[in-house]
Formats: sequence, structure tokens, C-alpha cells
Amino acid sequence: MKIQRKQSVVLVPLPCQGHLTPMLQLGSILHSQGFSVIIAHPEFNTPKYSNHPEFVFHSMDDVLKGINISSPSLENIYDLNENCKVPLRNYLVKKMKEEGDQLACIVYDNVMIFVDDVATQLRLPSIVLHTSSAAYLHSMITIYQQPEKYFPFEDSQLLDPLPELHPLRFKDVPIPTVNNTVAEPVLDFFKAINNIGSSVATIWNTMQDMENPILLRLQEHYKVPFYAIGPFHKMAPMASSTSILQEDDSCIKWLDRQVPNSVLYVSIGSQMRINDKELTETAWGLAKSDQPFLWVIRPGSVSGFQCAEALPDGFEKMVGERGRIVKWAPQKQVLSHPAVAGFFTHCGWNSTLESILEEVPLICRPFLADQPVTARYLSHMYKVGFELEVIERTVIEKTVRKLMLSDEGKDLKKRVVDMKQKIVVGMQIDGASHKNLNDLVDFISALPSRLPPPTPVVGAFDTSSKCIRES
Ligand code: UDX
Repeated sequence: MKIQRKQSVVLVPLPCQGHLTPMLQLGSILHSQGFSVIIAHPEFNTPKYSNHPEFVFHSMDDVLKGINISSPSLENIYDLNENCKVPLRNYLVKKMKEEGDQLACIVYDNVMIFVDDVATQLRLPSIVLHTSSAAYLHSMITIYQQPEKYFPFEDSQLLDPLPELHPLRFKDVPIPTVNNTVAEPVLDFFKAINNIGSSVATIWNTMQDMENPILLRLQEHYKVPFYAIGPFHKMAPMASSTSILQEDDSCIKWLDRQVPNSVLYVSIGSQMRINDKELTETAWGLAKSDQPFLWVIRPGSVSGFQCAEALPDGFEKMVGERGRIVKWAPQKQVLSHPAVAGFFTHCGWNSTLESILEEVPLICRPFLADQPVTARYLSHMYKVGFELEVIERTVIEKTVRKLMLSDEGKDLKKRVVDMKQKIVVGMQIDGASHKNLNDLVDFISALPSRLPPPTPVVGAFDTSSKCIRES
């Protein structure tokens, strides 16, 4: 039976699909543990309230009205951080009056840095949510602690190993570079989003069984409890869609007509864009592979074009019913469909977890940030994906055929099945994610309703408990 707790938690997501989804899933997990959940979100990319009747929503005026893009730029993110400060503060002050001790804490996406300032002013305990892998954060920290060791680098070094960051290479550097070096403001931004300020814990959409050594190292660095309670989409009871874009369900009927284990699913997530040359190379690579495919071409994802009108002449005629193109798919349903055999992906963290949990091996075509790190781990540590080194039609054709038809492809499949099974064990009672969730619930329940003033009470709040168990 579900325990009804008196406490509520306020969650503040970054309003991009890849961040909003795990925050809503975390909301669902906490709600299932008896907490009341309030989602305080910017107006930009407002979640669909009707899909989540279990939450209370509060919209913050972000002053971004009128921008017509699917995901915010770095400048927009700075604006969001600035503009939401007062609305959040006012809302929390009101809530604290109404709820008193019942308001347990605020959980925020690590990119919404301003929340720490607001929480500190109000002495409300705050917890950071990391929506990506621990390997990504670890690589960023390692690099920005000693940037001179990594930048600038030469083109000739792109395939050389990154010092102290096996299996990454210079081409996998997770911080945006121009001419193989990094600008000071960019470095500052990454430092800021990884500074947890006075937050009392961190929550991770990852699994100890997969990333334990790195999580331990990070916990050593941050000195607060870490709660790895992933994969959120399987830990959360919520089945309703978290999509900002309208999902085209018709592709499921198309999948129903395909042979089991025969279709390649292709998507670059909610933010990445390609140019028309890459679209053309991908189109011919898929066409010539002779394999059925379902391809998401999101509006705005091909620079200079609305949608699929940039596809090369003759392509649709050549593939006919063998290929299906949609603007946005119900991805989790697609990946769990028996017809799907592989995923050609940008390696966003949500897509990665969704694919592994449905035992679908991957073709990795990363773009930036966490994606090259994840791609490298998938292809060279976990060995559940093939890395696409060159975006060229014959390479794409060969890689697709290798994934779908070769013995090497079958080996990937076996490993991804094993990997999924280990993750599922972690979700069961006595499994790491399950235990970490119980610990997190106890931790939140025991939080003091107001933190002591910042000085001089060092140690007044005990952050020493080891939540990531040594194994
Ligand atoms: C971004 C970053 O790009 C990613 O690297 C980071 O880890 C999170 O933020 P995004 O690019 O959108 O996210 O990728 P991803 O993390 O994979 O999230 C995409 C989400 O959209 C997934 O949950 C996926 O199921 C969903 N999706 C994608 C759909 O529902 N339909 C689609 O057609 C495509």
C-alpha cells in the first residue's frame, strides 16, 4: 500500500525534452513514494498538464515569450536562469507560508543554477538532479580542473586518447570547442552547472551496476550523498507521455506489419540538427542497406529546411513501403516493438537508456556534450553499439548491415540483453537502484525543514552518509 507522506517536494526542470522527461519521471517516482509533487517550470516548453494529473504545476514567467525554437540556446539558458529567479522566490515564499514544515525540499536540474541561490536565501534544502551519465560529468570535471592539459589540441591528435579519461579520445571532448580550443566563458558555464553550491545531495538517472567506480569518485569530489536510482523510465510508474511534440502513432501500425526483429529505428532526439548533405548521405545509406527503417525527421532538424522535403530525388520511390518517415515518434513504444532490431541514434542519455532497457543494440552517431562520451562507452566499454566514424553513404550502409545481419551484430545483441538483465536486477528489491531510492526517500523525509544559516555551522547538516555503496 502506498504510504501517504505529508511532505511535498518542488521540482524545477530545464525545459528541454531530454531534461524535462527525466524530471517528470522523477516526479512520478517520488509521488509513488507518497510525496506531493509540485513542478515549478518555465513557460517555455510547458509540459502537458493533462498527462500528469498527480502533480501540481506552477508556471514561472521566463520572459522568453515569442521565441520560436524547440530548444533553448546557451543565451536563452542564461536568460532562463536570470528571469526565473524572482518568480521562483515569490512562489516558494508563498508555499513556505502555506505549507510550513511540510515543504521538504527543492530538486532542480543542474543546468538551472539559479535555484541554488534562491534555496540558500530561503534556507530551503535543495537537491541537484543529473539527467546524464556519471561518465559525462566526470570527464567534464577532469578536463576543466586542468584545461591546459587538454587545450588547444591539433587535428592530428583527434584519435589520440584523452589523458586520464579512457576510453575517450580528443574527438570525444564533451565541452564545445572552436578551433580545438575552449573559450573561457564556455568553461565557466560548465563549471557553474557542475557546482552544486549548498545543495545537500544529488540524484542520478543512472545505475550503480553500470557506473559505480565513477559515481564513487564523483561522490568523493562533491562530498554529499549520491542517489543513483535509474533507469527513471522503468522505475517510474508513470505511463503517460512526456512529449512536448505531438507523437505520430501511425508508425506503430506500420511496425505491426513488419517482420519481427527486422527494422532499424533512426532518430537524433529533440535538439540536434544535421545539414542537407548528411540527410542525403543517411538517406542513401539507409536505402542501400536494404533493411526496413523507421526514421524520425523532426521539423527544423535539417538546417535550412522545414522537414523531409530535403530528401534526395528518387529516394522515396526507391525505398517504397520499406521505409517510414515521421516527424516525431512514440519512441519508447517503438523501441519495445518486436519488429525493432536496432537504433541509429545520437546517443542522448534518455535514448540510450530506453534502447538498452528494450535490448536494442545501437549505431552511435554522436554530436556534442554527453553524446560522444556515451557513444564511446557504448561502443568500446559496454560493446553494445557500433560507432559510426564517417557520415558517408557506403559506411552507413555497411554499418547498418553489420548491425542487422552479421555475427558481430548478434554479439552486440547478446551483450545488450545481458546489460539489460543486470539493470533489471538493480531495480528489484535488494537491487542497488531500489535500495538507493529507499535511502533517498528516508533522506528527504529526515531533512530539516529549514537549513541553518550558512555560517558558521559547518557540519550541522550531515552529508557524510555513503549512498553509493562500495562494491
Ligand atoms: C538532450 C541531449 O541532446 C542529450 O544528449 C542529453 O543526454 C539530454 O538532453 P535529446 O537530444 O533530446 O536530449 O536526447 P535524449 O536524451 O535521447 O532525449 C530524447 C527524448 O525524446 C527521449 O526520451 C525519447 O524517447 C524522446 N523522443 C525522441 C520521442 O519521444 N520521440 C522521438 O521521435 C524522438
